[in-house]
Amino acid sequence: MEQLLNQIAEYKKEMSAFAAADEKQVEEFRIKWLGTRGIVKSVMGEMKNVAPDRKKEAGQLLNEFKQFAELRFEELKAAASGVMETGFSLDISLPGDPQPLGSRHPVTLMRNRIVSIFQRLGFAVAEGPEIEDDWHNFGALNLPPHHPARDMQDTFYIQQNPDWVLRTHTSSVQIREMEKGKLPIRMLMPGRVYRNETVSARSHCFFHQVEGLYIDENVSFADLKQTLYFFVKEMYGKDVKVRFRPSYFPFTEPSAEMDVTCFICGGSGCNICKKTGWVEILGCGMVHPNVLSNCGIDPNKYTGFAFGMGIERPAMLKYGVNDLRLFSENDVRFLKQFTSAI
Ligand code: PHE
Repeated sequence: MEQLLNQIAEYKKEMSAFAAADEKQVEEFRIKWLGTRGIVKSVMGEMKNVAPDRKKEAGQLLNEFKQFAELRFEELKAAASGVMETGFSLDISLPGDPQPLGSRHPVTLMRNRIVSIFQRLGFAVAEGPEIEDDWHNFGALNLPPHHPARDMQDTFYIQQNPDWVLRTHTSSVQIREMEKGKLPIRMLMPGRVYRNETVSARSHCFFHQVEGLYIDENVSFADLKQTLYFFVKEMYGKDVKVRFRPSYFPFTEPSAEMDVTCFICGGSGCNICKKTGWVEILGCGMVHPNVLSNCGIDPNKYTGFAFGMGIERPAMLKYGVNDLRLFSENDVRFLKQFTSAI
């Protein structure tokens, strides 16, 4: 009797440990344990060897053993057909665990908006490194060493190599595109730039720009103006007025800054436009002949225009953000408020 008990316990263990990979193995299980010449049958046959005073007890035990085998068989059958597993039932009709969907960063949204407008005019997107050499960030852009205009942008230099800087504008990518020598060029260069400025609600040590470059034969200032008019109308609406103010950039000649009528007050004067009715949105100009020759492009054959604008400021105005620092603090309560598609 003791031997039978031990034997049954062993058999149960073996059945529990058995896992069927497919229906064929379930059938093998059935034949081995529950078949006409299976183990359960032969264990039942042990009944005749049990002492008469323990027959009742043995009968219960053997019945229970048989049920155990049958139940295990049903479980394996169900698991193999993918409906149920031991101790774990899978109800495919239950609702799934919700996966919270992220949202795009407001700077990305604004960047995509700007890029998509110029893409409709045939501008392609180019990117370049954020750690730049002096040539691409300054030299090639008509800013030789000691040029006073280098002070216009407070530059972060890289200690290990005085020739390296964190790019102060995406104009460096213009140079990289021009150096490739494939003309005409109609490119947009979005990216992050760095300047050594005190971090406050209105300025930061890094921010984002989108710059554009168009180089071909016979490109004129009129092309520049029409391109930017189109951009402004798409971006700020048909009623927005535009004005160009003469300005200075070493890499463009002539240079201008472009203002639009304040999109908050419509031009009547408010805090955003400092009561002037105008908001400056970008710098632009005709690419300086020196810049073209620095990149191996013949300035007698080709002309071009370039423009550059910040992304944060229009994003602040569009989304009503009053502190620049919010853009880089990664506070989810701030970030999850921007859910629109582009
Ligand atoms: N690179 C200039 C800036 O960062 C912007 C600019 C780009 C101006 C292209 C003119 C032409 O301020």
